[in-house]
Amino acid sequence: MLIEMPRYTEIFGSVKIHELQRVLKLDSGGFENPRAKDISFEEIKNVLRRLAIVIPVKDENIHLLDGVLRAIPFDCSVIVVSNSDRDAHDIYKMEMDTITNIHNLTQQEILIVHQKDPELGFAFYEAGYDFLLDKDGLVRDGKSEGMIIGMLLAKSLGKDFIGFADADNYIPGAVREYVMDYAAGFCMSESPYSMVRLHWRYKPKVVEDKLYFKKWGRVSEATNKYLNLLLSTNTGFETGVVITGNAGEHALTTKLADLLCYSTGFSIEPYHYVYLFDEFGLKAEDIAYPDAASAGIEIFQIETLNPHIHEEKGEEHVKNMLLGSLSAIYYSKLCNDYVRSKVLDELKDILDTGVLNFDGLEEMGVQELRFFR
Ligand code: GDD
Repeated sequence: MLIEMPRYTEIFGSVKIHELQRVLKLDSGGFENPRAKDISFEEIKNVLRRLAIVIPVKDENIHLLDGVLRAIPFDCSVIVVSNSDRDAHDIYKMEMDTITNIHNLTQQEILIVHQKDPELGFAFYEAGYDFLLDKDGLVRDGKSEGMIIGMLLAKSLGKDFIGFADADNYIPGAVREYVMDYAAGFCMSESPYSMVRLHWRYKPKVVEDKLYFKKWGRVSEATNKYLNLLLSTNTGFETGVVITGNAGEHALTTKLADLLCYSTGFSIEPYHYVYLFDEFGLKAEDIAYPDAASAGIEIFQIETLNPHIHEEKGEEHVKNMLLGSLSAIYYSKLCNDYVRSKVLDELKDILDTGVLNFDGLEEMGVQELRFFR
């Protein structure tokens, strides 16, 4: 793969955020070039063998899941964490049948677990993860909660890298590229504590019967803006380096996964940044992980060659994602009154609720935002 070198790296304490890197050629020919890094297929394959891809899934079209599963390179292990319906149509059974079929045909290692399996809840309880459980002792709903299950299973398989892929992707070839991009990122990394976050080149939408190749979604635009504002107000130098605040498609080293804290539902991706800024940033007081701080935490932001076409889940879903994302920023230790007021203004426009003040978020249900290890 031939991939652009980052032109600039924002350094905030121990956190290094590399500017966007574009994929120049998915399959390259070994041509060395000062502006681009050539990563051989052997190097990529070496990472793939140590990588587990976690697929969180909840009631998605089975054809989409089937395409995603078949696109993931054979060398990776796949972990499907399902929160799908088991009643009316038993979607979980359809998922299991699909996986069994793919496994029988390919012999790829694929694990599947249901988020609400009582034995999983019990195992979490025994391991001291009771903060992930509801009052019935089952793992709570939520994409982040599913991702945490997946990360723990990846660890139990002894994997060094963990990546994520949503199950509702219409283009299997794009999913394959995402996984290769993750591997390329890890090949470039100099720290064992690193993360690769994907930025889609386009996210096409149908506008008046035509495909419009949109670049930015509303939630990611706002999330990136306020993450950058958080950085800018703390360094005194304006930056626009963060462009992957909501990167659902991301991967991280198991070493980094081990020391991160997580937040609930769809706020998990922006919270990666918030947590790293708070705990490893310029103003962090007590560094809990000095080894990671001295090695540095590297964040790669890679622009994919493929566009991203996925299921649209509606306006309410978008509002919830925005609320989750911005409240993760609002609760950052680095967030001052100015940034908080800007966040509240943004939410005020979008959720036309009544009175908003600094406590207003709680009135809107943000007390539901949970943080856990
Ligand atoms: N296990 C599990 N449990 N999976 C879930 C749950 C849950 O409670 N809720 C949703 N999922 C799965 C979905 O089935 C899908 O595979 C994936 O999580 C993402 O959920 P979507 O509902 O499709 O999210 P989205 O497409 O609007 O947003 C995605 O992209 C954003 C960036 O644009 C997500 O990946 C976001 O996290 C991301 O920020």
